[in-house]
Amino acid sequence: MTKKAGQSIVILTGSGISAESGLPTFRGSDGLWQGRRVEEVATPEAFEREPLLVQQFYNLRRAALQRVEPNAAHLALAALEREWPGEYLLITQNVDDLHFRAGSRRLLSIHGELRRARCLSCGADTPWMEDLTPDSSCPRCHEVGKLRPHIVWFGEAPMHMDQCLDALSQADLFVAIGTSGKVYPAASFVDFVASRPGTRRLELNQEATGNPRFNEVRIGPATETVQALVAELLA
Ligand code: OAD
Repeated sequence: MTKKAGQSIVILTGSGISAESGLPTFRGSDGLWQGRRVEEVATPEAFEREPLLVQQFYNLRRAALQRVEPNAAHLALAALEREWPGEYLLITQNVDDLHFRAGSRRLLSIHGELRRARCLSCGADTPWMEDLTPDSSCPRCHEVGKLRPHIVWFGEAPMHMDQCLDALSQADLFVAIGTSGKVYPAASFVDFVASRPGTRRLELNQEATGNPRFNEVRIGPATETVQALVAELLA
């Protein structure tokens, strides 16, 4: 596949692409938080039971965004978006804002965004940079204590699925970067793409998922593998 071919690329990223910026992955050795797995904190039930604890989990992550910068892998994908002559879509499971800050714009955040809050009362979805607390009030309806992180929790429907499936159904190249392939539906994107004959399905990861639907796997840190891939595609 060359730049001149102008074919369609869909990229899926997971927390591994942000690891070299200093953000922990979810299932790595530093992935536990106060001894809890993400599956125990990132649920509507956990928020109902222990709202303060869940707010704190996301407050820490939101605050951490002020101390990190996009890395070479985020920047390389933004350059690919700018220079690729065909269709291009970046789908991220990440709730950080590093793709956006790197310059990616054809970007869908299917698990939501740390720097947004949603009101359980009026449904407003607004930018939010501070900590969320039980005293936070909705900028639109002004109700207090109704804001929640704009994050898709386990058991909730991911966002933008129609647009994702549209793009995936036309992809000539699908690349999954830095994701363990444990969380659906993103984990099944490669199966969906595999039903289209001739699609190149590439995994870039620190540890291979072992999913046989990928027809090419490159192991290494994302800053190296993504820069190398983008250079090849734009050569
Ligand atoms: P995981 O923590 O499950 O997987 C991280 C992946 O990144 C693993 O495959 C690692 O091998 C890889 N990795 C680590 N460092 C890397 C590096 N420097 N370069 C390349 N790869 C590296 O995270 P995700 O797959 O993103 O959802 O998890 C998926 C979803 O589970 C998250 O979006 C989150 C979580 O529950 C929600 O919060 C809704």
